[in-house]
Amino acid sequence: MKPDLMPKNNTMTKNPIGVMDSGVGGISVLKHIHALLPHEHLIYVADSAHAPYGNKSQDEIKKRCFAVADFLIAQEIKALVVACNTATAAAINDLRAKYALPIIGMEPAVKPAAAASKNGIIGVLATVGTLKSAQFAALLESYGRNVEVVTQGCIGLVECIERGELDTEHTQHLLQQYCAPLLAEGADTIVLGCTHYPFVRHLIEKIVGESVSIIDTGAAVANHVNTIMQTQSLSTPLKALPTITFWTNSKAIDSAAVIRQLWANDNADIRYMS
Ligand code: DGL
Repeated sequence: MKPDLMPKNNTMTKNPIGVMDSGVGGISVLKHIHALLPHEHLIYVADSAHAPYGNKSQDEIKKRCFAVADFLIAQEIKALVVACNTATAAAINDLRAKYALPIIGMEPAVKPAAAASKNGIIGVLATVGTLKSAQFAALLESYGRNVEVVTQGCIGLVECIERGELDTEHTQHLLQQYCAPLLAEGADTIVLGCTHYPFVRHLIEKIVGESVSIIDTGAAVANHVNTIMQTQSLSTPLKALPTITFWTNSKAIDSAAVIRQLWANDNADIRYMS
């Protein structure tokens, strides 16, 4: 039976929202959530010791998602945001089946891209895991029928961003390689189908030029979180500055530095979990 995690009284409204990703990429979503809901306490988990999820089996990803969700639920979160396209595709149904709290996932923005494209050719940059998933196939079936969709798995890119390499030659070279097929097919709209990629958006913009639109899902996810808070009466009544805590299990020496770099705050509260 599911644990009853729904609020029984309004004390739960003061609890934090949990946000998880395979690593530091979901910080791009966390920024949108914090901007829209500036009084909500937030707990972020970077499962960086197990990143990338993109080349793991669905079962392995599910196992990691359960471990991280258990960790966050033990800290009495009132909602869980899976700020990872790959984890959403692999595990969102199982997470929702196991836990009773609101769980918000995300998927590559094929629908808005198809609506925005002028020439009907859209590109999707994502992990191999997302592109191979049944959820992505269903997304294309629903929203990709009237457009040409060019997909590109970006092997190795998540690892660059995990190391904080947002401007190195290697990262630029990978992006050139991955954007080239989309440009060759004439895509006028490119979807960032992985939450790590907004951190290298500046490089992608340079490669694809101004005539190509880039779509990131972070703001839409934050809007959805806001809607859930309101419709389920979970919005915080607090008006003070919230606590924002980062947890990472990465053993890399500079993992805290990368979180500080991406969150753009030298005083970020970063803790280690096993
Ligand atoms: N941020 C994850 C996503 O949105 C990256 C997945 C990975 O770890 O490969 O898909």
